[in-house]
Amino acid sequence: MVPLRQAFQQALDHRQARSARRRLTVLPADAVDFSSNDFLSLSRSSLLKSQYLQDLNACYHPPNKAPPLGSGGSRLLDGNSEYAEQLEQFIAEFHNAPAGLLFNSGFDANAGVFSCLPQPGDTIVYDELIHASVHEGMRLSRADKKLAFRHNSVDDLERVLLDLVENDSKFGHNVFIAVETLYSMDGDIAPLHKIIQLIHGLFPKRNAYLVVDEAHATGVFGRNGAGVVQELGVQEDVFIRIHTFGKSLASQGAIVLCDALTREYLINYARSLIYTTAMSHPALIAIRTAYELMCKGKTQSLQSNLQLNISYFRSRCDELSGTIDKAILQTDYHDRSPIFSVRSRKPRELAQYCQQRGLVVRPIMAPTVPLGQERVRVCLHAGNTRQEIDRLVDAISQWATVQSERSRL
Ligand SMILES: Cc1ncc(COP(=O)(O)O)c(C=O)c1O
Repeated sequence: MVPLRQAFQQALDHRQARSARRRLTVLPADAVDFSSNDFLSLSRSSLLKSQYLQDLNACYHPPNKAPPLGSGGSRLLDGNSEYAEQLEQFIAEFHNAPAGLLFNSGFDANAGVFSCLPQPGDTIVYDELIHASVHEGMRLSRADKKLAFRHNSVDDLERVLLDLVENDSKFGHNVFIAVETLYSMDGDIAPLHKIIQLIHGLFPKRNAYLVVDEAHATGVFGRNGAGVVQELGVQEDVFIRIHTFGKSLASQGAIVLCDALTREYLINYARSLIYTTAMSHPALIAIRTAYELMCKGKTQSLQSNLQLNISYFRSRCDELSGTIDKAILQTDYHDRSPIFSVRSRKPRELAQYCQQRGLVVRPIMAPTVPLGQERVRVCLHAGNTRQEIDRLVDAISQWATVQSERSRL
């Protein structure tokens, strides 16, 4: 038998040899961010910081009468508070949902939802690019079947669902359909209207349940950043929505929006809620502060700035694609999306070239994306300046020019 530490080393060496070893990195403070999920640049916003400090001060003065800092336990034991419950109601109202339940992270929320809601005999049908946290939930789930459909393909979803309806004697069971609104790697948006139409057509008994993860869309899309579901006005057609706070909202944690009965069921059965210490009071205040800003329309100008930056970057990418051979480099983007992929055969080299010039972009390698679809992921932010965007496009262009020249030699 291989001793444990040797097994660890072998596994890491194997990843290293495939250029797939993951490492923790610390960014230089002055680097330009084209990588994080801080789409509204709220994380660095003095408006949010000062409002948060004000809210924190208001809550913790005088300190002897203030709530404890740490929650002290699970929500089910000592970790609950009126503040947490009011926050859930406030966020649920903002999102036009009957109820909400906080989780410590989006990962916990998805793991909780998919591990406990599908019952024995049920089926989960999921977009092939669904987030790892949904896979984690599915691994623990009692559902009979877990079936993937091709990314964002309504036709393929129809094929999978029809097969289930026509050939499965257990069709009377429930079907859970898992999608995201804005996908984190390709930056494309789910065709929600068509998915909902399809579900209504195939499941007149209403035993299909759509679960929509709005992690990347929160803050970015919809009125005051409420998300794609509300932008389309289809909240009644969605069983569960998951909004996370760690991306555009510059905080941490997540909420599952659902009906009151489902909330009660999750409180009783979601192990990622039950067996973990609830968020601290300052963490809850941070979430409330960010939502108050959204609710009062104070993030609208950031949403608009982000869209202006997206249009500008797109126009610069179009210029690039007019001059650079597609075999060397290709830029993919989608309507209004802040996530772009720059495809090339050497994403690590391209990312490093940009990083050396103080521009933070990341190579995304298999297995995070399918083999052959490796790319550099570019995320735009409300706070990126035109000058910064120009620097990035120029760096990409210079790198591609050198590659073309090399390939001609
Ligand atoms: C689509 C999606 N869902 C859930 C999560 C997990 O959210 P959190 O970072 O809050 O755990 C992520 C984070 O990367 C995500 O992209």
